[in-house]
Amino acid sequence: MRQIRSNVYAVGAIDWDRRLFDELIPLPEGTTYNAYVIKGSEKTALLDTVDPKKTDTLLAAILSLGIDRIDYIVAHHAEQDHSGSIPDMLNLYPDAKVVANAKCKSMLMDLLHVEEDRFLTVEDGRTLSLGDKTLQFFDIPWVHWPETMGTYVQEDKILFPCDLFGAHLATSSLFVDDEPTVYEAAKRYYAQIMMPFRTVIRRNLRKLEALDIEVIAPSHGPAHDNPAFIMDAYRDWVSDDVKNEAVLAYVSMHESTRAIAEHLAEALMERGIKVRQFNLSVTDLGQLAIALVDAATIVLGSPTVLTGAHPKVAYGALVANALRPKTRFATIVGSFGWGGKMVEQLTGLMSNLKVELIDPVVTKGHPKEDDLSALDALADRILDKHREINVA
Ligand code: FEO
Repeated sequence: MRQIRSNVYAVGAIDWDRRLFDELIPLPEGTTYNAYVIKGSEKTALLDTVDPKKTDTLLAAILSLGIDRIDYIVAHHAEQDHSGSIPDMLNLYPDAKVVANAKCKSMLMDLLHVEEDRFLTVEDGRTLSLGDKTLQFFDIPWVHWPETMGTYVQEDKILFPCDLFGAHLATSSLFVDDEPTVYEAAKRYYAQIMMPFRTVIRRNLRKLEALDIEVIAPSHGPAHDNPAFIMDAYRDWVSDDVKNEAVLAYVSMHESTRAIAEHLAEALMERGIKVRQFNLSVTDLGQLAIALVDAATIVLGSPTVLTGAHPKVAYGALVANALRPKTRFATIVGSFGWGGKMVEQLTGLMSNLKVELIDPVVTKGHPKEDDLSALDALADRILDKHREINVA
């Protein structure tokens, strides 16, 4: 039995083997689908379910608690890693109501074909009594879809924020017991899932800060009995503050772009700028996303292929553009043999980024002495820009 507080139980599943989420996001350390049972003196609630592949695990955990009735299934989020077992749970507990906000209800009807009469629709701030425990619901949109909601248990001071504050980390630990490991996993998770909604999350954080929270129990990874650890980390990540760092993401076909990337990396390091260099042919996109959380500058490096950027660099640009990091400056380096539109193409792929573009350096063939000087000058310009925003 995995108990968070008296009569509050973790009944989710650990997915040690999963390596990809949404067929996009690498999960090097697996994940968990957290669900919780809250037994009140009068009613019992299940908070979220699990990925449909793990329904049997959820059911076994519920049965092990000796529970034969569930009154409410609180759906914080319609994504199937949390909602996927709801149809099975509704079949097993025919009197249960799905508690959701209006948006989530509509999405669950579309995605899982839950019948409309099975819902109890709740609004932001509404409470629901289980007897000696009171659930209070808060809309916290865009963590990670528009319908996302959190639940606060007033008597126990536990916040269940679903995806927010989560970590894709398969672990048998119910609570955080290794902060550095969880910090890295939570930052990776933030970078890939939450970062595009940074400014909305900032507003959500302010809303949640008004609560007296002793435990944060997210829907992925371990629970936090030191809420300040994860809330402080989020305050930093969602802030507008960037660091004196450059992400240099490139691909090289015949060593020219590699020589350019390595020369520029060296020049930036000589100027005191921290460099995170990624060869996009072999990079874990999660690592690239983590680096983008803090960096002041992103540099893309590409050869010219079939008149455009190397497709792997274009993909990197597309991912960075979708993640919308708070990066302030961007530039492009690379090489060409006989012409092309590599720079224009990559610039067009980064239209979401609110960055100042620094003039690119593109060489014809392998970089020559004057090309290397141009790269040194580019490093100077990047340093100047970092100084202008007081990070160097
Ligand atoms: Fe963990 Fe957005 O689902």
